[in-house]
Amino acid sequence: MASHPNDILLTISSMAYGGNGVARLDGKVYFVADAIEGDVVKARVTEDKERYANAEVSEFVSYSPFREKPRCPFTTNCGGCQWMGVPYTQQLAWKQDFIVSSLKRIGKIPEHLSIDVNPSPDIYNYRNRVMIRVHISDRSVLTCGYFKRGTRELVPINRCDIANETINKLIGHITTVNLNGLKNIKFRMEIQELPSESGKLVVTITPADGDKKATKAFTETLRTLDYISWSGMSFDLKDAPTIPFDQQFSRTFLTLPGQFQQVNVAHNKNLRTFISDIVAEYRPQSILDVFCGSGNLSIGVAEKGRLIEGIEANSVAIDCAKKNVAENNISDATYIAGDAEKHLLKLWRANARFDLVILDPPRQGFHAGMPSLMALAPKKIVYVSCDPTTLARDIGFLCRNQDYRIKSITGFDFFPNTYHVETVVVLERTQKV
Ligand SMILES: C[S@@+](CC[C@H](N)C(=O)[O-])C[C@H]1O[C@@H](n2cnc3c(N)ncnc32)[C@H](O)[C@@H]1O
Repeated sequence: MASHPNDILLTISSMAYGGNGVARLDGKVYFVADAIEGDVVKARVTEDKERYANAEVSEFVSYSPFREKPRCPFTTNCGGCQWMGVPYTQQLAWKQDFIVSSLKRIGKIPEHLSIDVNPSPDIYNYRNRVMIRVHISDRSVLTCGYFKRGTRELVPINRCDIANETINKLIGHITTVNLNGLKNIKFRMEIQELPSESGKLVVTITPADGDKKATKAFTETLRTLDYISWSGMSFDLKDAPTIPFDQQFSRTFLTLPGQFQQVNVAHNKNLRTFISDIVAEYRPQSILDVFCGSGNLSIGVAEKGRLIEGIEANSVAIDCAKKNVAENNISDATYIAGDAEKHLLKLWRANARFDLVILDPPRQGFHAGMPSLMALAPKKIVYVSCDPTTLARDIGFLCRNQDYRIKSITGFDFFPNTYHVETVVVLERTQKV
């Protein structure tokens, strides 16, 4: 974007959760898209409020010393990895700061917070699942890529540096797939490599518009490739296989095409170990796994005599959790399809008690469920969050009247080269409740 006389000169002094650079000028805070700490920019205000403004860069006056040449050539356009090219230690420092500042500013946690962010085992090729967009033109030309940030403009790619190499094999060769005359269709394509089937891909397609029949024909073409183990439509999983996802603690974790699974497989194992260590320390007799998915965080800690109950809205994930129970000969574990908030309310009314609650909500957190959780009064809560701001709001609620105290806060960097960070807060009930 060309600069304009009304543009303002800003020095970016820190980073805000969401990935924007932060600058202060004349008592106002500016959130600047695509800028990082240390950049000096001319910026155009896109939204002006009384105490803060959103802005975008019209010209870089000087670049941050944290900017190095990004390894991925698509990064400035594709909108996926805002921090590709920033040294990894600096990325971790910013993520740590997001967690601390959210807990202090939003959660009003007064005490000194000591937090480590566990680095990802790999900072490239760490994703075993990506969602790419595919357009086939009226001349049967196929383009695949990601949408530019905040738009529906397709940025073509022929590889993705944070995806693993089997996924890149398909992204790199997809333009050579025989389209059999297909034209004028658009769809989202989830490509997943299962750790248990290394070198093979599962592909699940959701048509954005156009002919579902034509998109189905494309899934059938994909099935002819020797490195595709299954390909199909997300709304038609009749012949979708239940597949071993990975193994840990001598247990097999199953999955189905299109089902939510953490994308950083190696770090997900570290998270499961972290939770297993907490369970080994506290030895709870009963565990409630809220937002349990297919049991990713609780299947590994199930044992005879320990009551486990999981609640999850997605019934396909619950079917898979039940298969996990059967596959691993687990007793005393029940996984239920339903709404988390309603379920906790029901448990509260029934005067149910759990020693430990694992909470792993989506980005929005679990604000509405906090009163029921407090009323259930578990001795320990392990809150796993992918958004430090909603986490801080919910932890603030639990700690406000000293009903719970924070035992530990640990970051897990599941998403190197992006601003995203996973946080695990362990809370203990105080004597007050
Ligand atoms: C961050 S994922 C965690 C899944 C699981 N713990 C794991 O590690 O794979 C959040 C889960 O919450 C589920 N979910 C979203 N809204 C829900 C609701 N209102 N009630 C119950 N589950 C919900 C989603 O389907 C998703 O599986």
